[in-house]
Amino acid sequence: MKVFDTHAHLLSDAFDEDREQVIARIQSAGVCLCMEAGTTLEDSAKAVEQSERYDFLYAAAGIHPHEAEEAPENALDQLEKLLAHPKCKALGEIGLDYHYDFSPREIQRRMFAEQLDLAIALDKPVIIHDREAHADTLSLLTARKGKSKGILHCYSGSLEDAKKYLDMGFYLSFAGPLTFKNAHKLQQVAAYVPLDRVLCETDSPYLTPVPKRGQRNDPANVALVIEQLAQCKGIAFDEAAQHTLENGKAVFGIEG
Ligand code: NI
Repeated sequence: MKVFDTHAHLLSDAFDEDREQVIARIQSAGVCLCMEAGTTLEDSAKAVEQSERYDFLYAAAGIHPHEAEEAPENALDQLEKLLAHPKCKALGEIGLDYHYDFSPREIQRRMFAEQLDLAIALDKPVIIHDREAHADTLSLLTARKGKSKGILHCYSGSLEDAKKYLDMGFYLSFAGPLTFKNAHKLQQVAAYVPLDRVLCETDSPYLTPVPKRGQRNDPANVALVIEQLAQCKGIAFDEAAQHTLENGKAVFGIEG
């Protein structure tokens, strides 16, 4: 089994006690590629460093909506420097979070728009976090249709919005919630998304899939999400794993 976890946070303090062991274990469990998503300038820089130490780890650099208010004035210049690294493949995670509202919405929107425009200027994909901000996310991306590219991470929107994002060329990525008992609508979206535009991720240490809920999540559990995707599509696990691996390499421009 070879699987790509296209969104994880191995630098989270949840892994401080045993990070090296987790990294060794997930590799032997078949995780052949893993994307570490940045949330601040500091941990984006650490993600890049981490990617230098492990062949199978890649990095994304970005300011998460929770952190938008705290971002320094030169944040975009700093991000641009990180994105020049050969293993830093995307701008993320960026977006809007109206569930927690940790940063004022106006600042979230400005930071999101500026990062979207930086990604366009650098010709990089974006990794988008949209929690309870579907209308604003859609409108900021629609305004950049044909220019922005990348991933709707941990997709939680409607089938109708999914069709619009697919039409704009985006990939949709599913995480642990796809396996939850009440996920019928999300499973319908997963059944609909074409096999060449779908990704699976863990967002670990968060969002642990069924049947491991209650435990800390880690990238090896992406197999449980892929298994659910395969069920939604009525295909074999290996076929779903193969497509999500190839799609992940394509969206991030990872060769080999
Ligand atoms: Ni995340």
